[in-house]
Amino acid sequence: MLYQVYPRSFLDTDGDGVGDLAGVRAKLPYLRWLGVDGVWLSPIYRSPMADFGYDVSDHCAIDPVFGDLPGFDRLLADAHAIGLRLLLDWVPNHTSDRHPWFVESRSSRDSPKRDWYFWRDGHDDGPPNNWRAAFGGQAWTWDESTRQWYLHLFLSQQPDLRWSEPDVVDAMHGVLRFWLDRGVDGFRADVVHLISKDEELPDQPPELADIDLVGVHDHPGAHPLLRNLRAVLDAYPGDRVMVGEVNLGSAARLAPYYGAGDELHMVFNFSLLWAPWDAAHWAGRIAESEAALAPSGAWPVWVLSNHDTPRHRTRYGSEARARVAATVLLTLRGTPFLYAGEELGLADAEVPDGVRVDPGGRDGCRAPFPWDDQAGHGWAGEPWLPWPPDPAVRNAGALAGDRRSILHLYRRLLACRRRSAALHSGTWERLDAPDGVLAYERRAGADVRRIWANFGDEAVAGDAGGDWVVEVAGSGRGEGDPWDGRLAATEALVVRPVG
Ligand code: NOJ
Repeated sequence: MLYQVYPRSFLDTDGDGVGDLAGVRAKLPYLRWLGVDGVWLSPIYRSPMADFGYDVSDHCAIDPVFGDLPGFDRLLADAHAIGLRLLLDWVPNHTSDRHPWFVESRSSRDSPKRDWYFWRDGHDDGPPNNWRAAFGGQAWTWDESTRQWYLHLFLSQQPDLRWSEPDVVDAMHGVLRFWLDRGVDGFRADVVHLISKDEELPDQPPELADIDLVGVHDHPGAHPLLRNLRAVLDAYPGDRVMVGEVNLGSAARLAPYYGAGDELHMVFNFSLLWAPWDAAHWAGRIAESEAALAPSGAWPVWVLSNHDTPRHRTRYGSEARARVAATVLLTLRGTPFLYAGEELGLADAEVPDGVRVDPGGRDGCRAPFPWDDQAGHGWAGEPWLPWPPDPAVRNAGALAGDRRSILHLYRRLLACRRRSAALHSGTWERLDAPDGVLAYERRAGADVRRIWANFGDEAVAGDAGGDWVVEVAGSGRGEGDPWDGRLAATEALVVRPVG
């Protein structure tokens, strides 16, 4: 399981109210205790922070708010020393408008870096095409000094790089090598499906004209670029990986991004993240993903939350449901990603007007991580965002001391996953189940586990036959006992055969 740390919100050690690399380093033992295999750090590079680090102005420097390169090296060394892998976020589609590349590109129409970005004349008095940007507005900004428009699929402070320019490819490969040389285990590649664009930049058809491109842009030119990126990683010893953010919805549309095992190692599958709380929907989407990925050996990646979406408890409405979601997330075939704080069952913070800072309205899920029940919850300074609800009781220290807590459920699920070949690498097969129940079997040779997840608000009779022992129960109740075939309301179980 890979654990996503949003560094601004994890732990502040220097008193500025923003989490830092020293904070991540201090909590590595906690991550080990929890049972994670590796950490993905959201961007830590130098950035004006218009999009909180997803606007990079120097790919090879740590932003001072997080620390410095020696501090990063210490974090990496400590992570490796306790067997944790470390993945960085790599932002290939765009840079900050303050990146020296863009500053140069913008300086004149004759700049040697002019073609590193998309500069175009407009149509009539408007922008070159009808593309919309994520976070709203048109995807073009007029530059008065050189009298052309530049493209940005996100904020105007995030101009899009032009990957058909070979020097851009070389420069971005150089960024990967800089970090691979330092020893990182890989990258999460931000909106990597967007890097290739039709040079004609055609209008979106009328039915798509009102939405931004992020969820629909799927250009074939991405694939050769991805194969070259893969070759950069493959040239390094050890298992270096790239997991791509490809926001195209169904698994069938993600599958091509694995190539023939020569493009992305893994691709985030968000299909459950957007599914309603309904067992039949979840079963359908998991089955669809299996059908799309399993035949080619593509390894799934399951995601139920991240720094862009409301947390489990906020979305599903209760901790009981968050426990069911955790049980499913950690028992599917593939690699689960867990967003820091889900193991505490955090809900999103209420962020009042005037305190909101994110242009995409995502502050709630980025609230600081409460470590203990003291006034500052372990943080050296007053955090940059308000605390999530009930930090005095819902914090890592308090939940670690309560064996019935959701934190201990995550820990038991991860331990179970680790000791069961069926769970970490076995096949997945859907089981017949009563309405409202998601049930499946995982199997690797003789090792078998069954997962029964009751999404409904009423108890049901689950499996009729077979002799099963409860290995992990969402509530903790009855673990180690024979299973009577019943599921309480909103309860999920992992069961194994007797003997
Ligand atoms: C996806 C990231 O997850 C999100 O936080 C960011 O705003 C956009 N990409 C732009 O980089």
